[in-house]
Amino acid sequence: MSASQGPWFWLGNETLKVPAALFALNRRRLCERLRNNEDVPKGAFVVLQGGEETQRYCTDTGVLFRQESFFHWTFGVTESGCYGAIDVDTGKSILFVPKLPESYAVWMGKIHPPEHFKGKYAVDEVQYSSDIASVLSAKKPSMLLTLRGVNTDSGSVCREASFEGISQFTVNNVLLHPEIVECRVFKTDMELEVLRYTNRISSEAHKEVMKAAKVSMKEYELESVFLHYCYSRGGMRHTSYTCICGSGDNSSVLHYGHAGAPNDKTLQDGDMCLFDMGGEYYCYSSDITCSFPANGKFTPDQRAIYEAVLKSSRAVMKAVKPGVAWPDMHRLADRVHLEELTKLGLLKGNVDDMLKAHMGAVFMPHGLGHFLGIDVHDVGGYPEGVERIDLPGLKSLRTARTLQERMVLTIEPGIYFIDHVLDQALKDPAQSCFINNEVLQRFRGFGGVRIEDDIAVTSGGMELLTCVPRTVEEIEAHMAGGSEGVCKAFDRVVLSEPL
Ligand code: GLY
Ligand code: MN
Ligand code: MN
Repeated sequence: MSASQGPWFWLGNETLKVPAALFALNRRRLCERLRNNEDVPKGAFVVLQGGEETQRYCTDTGVLFRQESFFHWTFGVTESGCYGAIDVDTGKSILFVPKLPESYAVWMGKIHPPEHFKGKYAVDEVQYSSDIASVLSAKKPSMLLTLRGVNTDSGSVCREASFEGISQFTVNNVLLHPEIVECRVFKTDMELEVLRYTNRISSEAHKEVMKAAKVSMKEYELESVFLHYCYSRGGMRHTSYTCICGSGDNSSVLHYGHAGAPNDKTLQDGDMCLFDMGGEYYCYSSDITCSFPANGKFTPDQRAIYEAVLKSSRAVMKAVKPGVAWPDMHRLADRVHLEELTKLGLLKGNVDDMLKAHMGAVFMPHGLGHFLGIDVHDVGGYPEGVERIDLPGLKSLRTARTLQERMVLTIEPGIYFIDHVLDQALKDPAQSCFINNEVLQRFRGFGGVRIEDDIAVTSGGMELLTCVPRTVEEIEAHMAGGSEGVCKAFDRVVLSEPL
């Protein structure tokens, strides 16, 4: 089926039509990989279990359902309580949907027959979840491949499919995980289109926020501008993560915005703002950070820090291409930061010596960036054979891989003035010798700057997916009411290599 034929997921208006063919291709790619794995016998079936509805604690108030990511990648199904199976040899797919109680028709809406889902998701067969054991048994699979493996960012193990009667089958729960994870790392053209869309809408939403930002507003008022734009214009009911809307010192709190610090500070004149927000469409993410002055005009110090981060961001973008090791990009960003902080007089000494003393991590304690896809911190960062580098800063990288075409990543360098980290560095003679404490005092309470863009690695370099005002001049002009001059730095590069 070609991508231009239905069915598709679409929320009307200007929202993106995503063809069910995207998931058919994902399934085909997965089966090809599994067929090339000599440990997978002929006659094997993949069996995945989708996510289930949850309630708020012990109440009957439902939490808005969002599909489990592996299941979404494979089937694109928005409903809860499903299973899916794929015959690895033929690629034929079976979706199992729950047989719903009659009360569903009263409270939740029409109960659709299985044929409805066959049409909606373009799978080969639809059966009821309650019949999964007998349906699979009739197909006489040699082995069921279920999904079990560790998420290398969270350390959590994904939930393996289980159903009554599974014990009658030969089940293997180790073969599937590395193969499906590896498939998810490389985005197809159809997936890239969705990620371009999530980036376009989220970029526009960030621009609305920057235009609306005024001293004396609450951080959450601007969060709501972002959410409103993403949902009303982009059909994005979910964000990819909790919105981080830090102003002043809060902009140095890496994951500010959680329930204990709920974006509730008032923007002050002179504050730097760091807004990290990304909309999600049909379970595909975006992850964008814009840093700007609350009053729309950079002070000399704000400009210096901002331009140091922009310089590292653009240096990395120029260097990114297949074959480049991601940790080297992190080191490059550190180097640019330290050079610029030296020019500013905040650091003194030789930059190579500073790098050896891990000074980069004093100002950027997080990793330079991570894979992005269905999850904001997408899977596949540490497959077997890729080791985490146990050094300050580098150990926080969510991947230490060498870049390849069709990987999608964030590039998110930052410079932060975090009292706790600075105090530790000042106590350590190996680091304090590089710090000009008098100048540093000026930056206590400054907060931080992060510039976060999403990119796709192409055969010759990268495609920038994010499109927001980035230079100081662009930001000031945009906040003053103009909108010209964005996205000049990089032209879009169209991926040309076949899959
Ligand atoms: N928003 C989370 C991150 O940047 O990784
Ligand atoms: Mn982010
Ligand atoms: Mn990120």
